[in-house]
Amino acid sequence: METKEKNTVNRGEFLRSLGLSTSALMAFYCMGTTLSSCSTKDDDPAPATPTTPGGTAAVTGTTMGSGINFNIDLNAYKAKDLKKEGEFDIFGDTIVIATANKKYVALSKACTHQGTTVNYRSASNDILCPNHGSQFKLDGTVQKGPAASPLTVFKTTLSADGNSLNVKA
Ligand code: FES
Repeated sequence: METKEKNTVNRGEFLRSLGLSTSALMAFYCMGTTLSSCSTKDDDPAPATPTTPGGTAAVTGTTMGSGINFNIDLNAYKAKDLKKEGEFDIFGDTIVIATANKKYVALSKACTHQGTTVNYRSASNDILCPNHGSQFKLDGTVQKGPAASPLTVFKTTLSADGNSLNVKA
């Protein structure tokens, strides 16, 4: 009978009997259960909504990585007037450019030379890397080095009413 009682000592009492601290005990408890049971709401991963200055509410979807697929509400987005020809902005890993006749172009923002974020030049309708001067055409091809590889072009789809732009890898 006595032996049975010893065997039914709960896990906390057993661990305490080993002289473990409270934090060490918590670690044991977490290991014994799922990780989420020991996390708080603050530990939850960031939501999919990107953090674009001045436009978080207007931009939804994934702006980074291989799964780029996001929408820009062109009326709600206030950081730049992307309905205006010649404007551009950076969204995660992309540069989105409003070109002539309500057309949009989206490309990878990182210069293929050393990764600097590129800019659009409306006067020459091309893309310039401010670091070492590489230039790209709007189809991503290199028009001047030192960059040797093209920028990646993403698919852009403007809604029928012209108020929402989708960018997709
Ligand atoms: S990083 Fe763009 S030209 Fe060097």
